[in-house]
Amino acid sequence: MKKTLVVSYTPREQSNTKKLVDFFVEHAQNKTEITFLDLTKDTPDLLLEKNLNLYVNRNFGGVALNDEEQKILSKNDKMVVQLLDADRIVVASPMYNMSLPATVKAWVDAVIQAGKTFEQTENGPRGLCDGKQALVLMTSGSDFTIEPLKSMNFATPLLNACLGLMGITTENSTAFGLQQYPDKVESMLAMCKEEIKAVSEKWY
Ligand SMILES: Cc1cc2nc3c(=O)[nH]c(=O)nc-3n(C[C@H](O)[C@H](O)[C@H](O)COP(=O)(O)O)c2cc1C
Repeated sequence: MKKTLVVSYTPREQSNTKKLVDFFVEHAQNKTEITFLDLTKDTPDLLLEKNLNLYVNRNFGGVALNDEEQKILSKNDKMVVQLLDADRIVVASPMYNMSLPATVKAWVDAVIQAGKTFEQTENGPRGLCDGKQALVLMTSGSDFTIEPLKSMNFATPLLNACLGLMGITTENSTAFGLQQYPDKVESMLAMCKEEIKAVSEKWY
């Protein structure tokens, strides 16, 4: 049975993004072994002076860390192990300020690790997660499917590019414009659910 990691950041009560995650889980739970990473409860460590330098020294410099230093990196390292263990990944998040919520970006910064999920080559970075596939579920208040906002969507392109850097191929199901089109909320979510169902059927 394939393993699936569901990474979600849906802190708002009545979150519409959570409705999409719940639909995925309901549809897929008997077909795959699911591990959940709720970023609102299990928040990655931001890369600050101490852990950033330990990470750089270890992953780029080949420096062996002692147990105490290794422990400082252990929370984010555990997220890398979780990702490497999964065949399929669902990342669900609202758009915040045209980009990813900081907590979701912190997860990206935690799991993109040199020597673990990508490696540097003379031709640039090469992903080490070949064969893994991801589904990005995202909602927004305004319609980012058309200009002038379309070219200001730094959320899904960023997530797709970061997953791609690790060698993970990505599909997106988005409901962009839930506040702009209040009458269309249910139909937009229904369309996403159809897409989620199709991806789930393809995956498992
Ligand atoms: C802090 C914050 C920032 C947001 N920034 C944007 C934005 O830049 N563009 C947009 O269209 N919607 C923005 N929104 C609206 C949310 O993306 C939208 O309501 C989304 O559907 C919320 O998802 P949820 O129901 O899962 O909480 C923002 C909402 C919050 C709370």
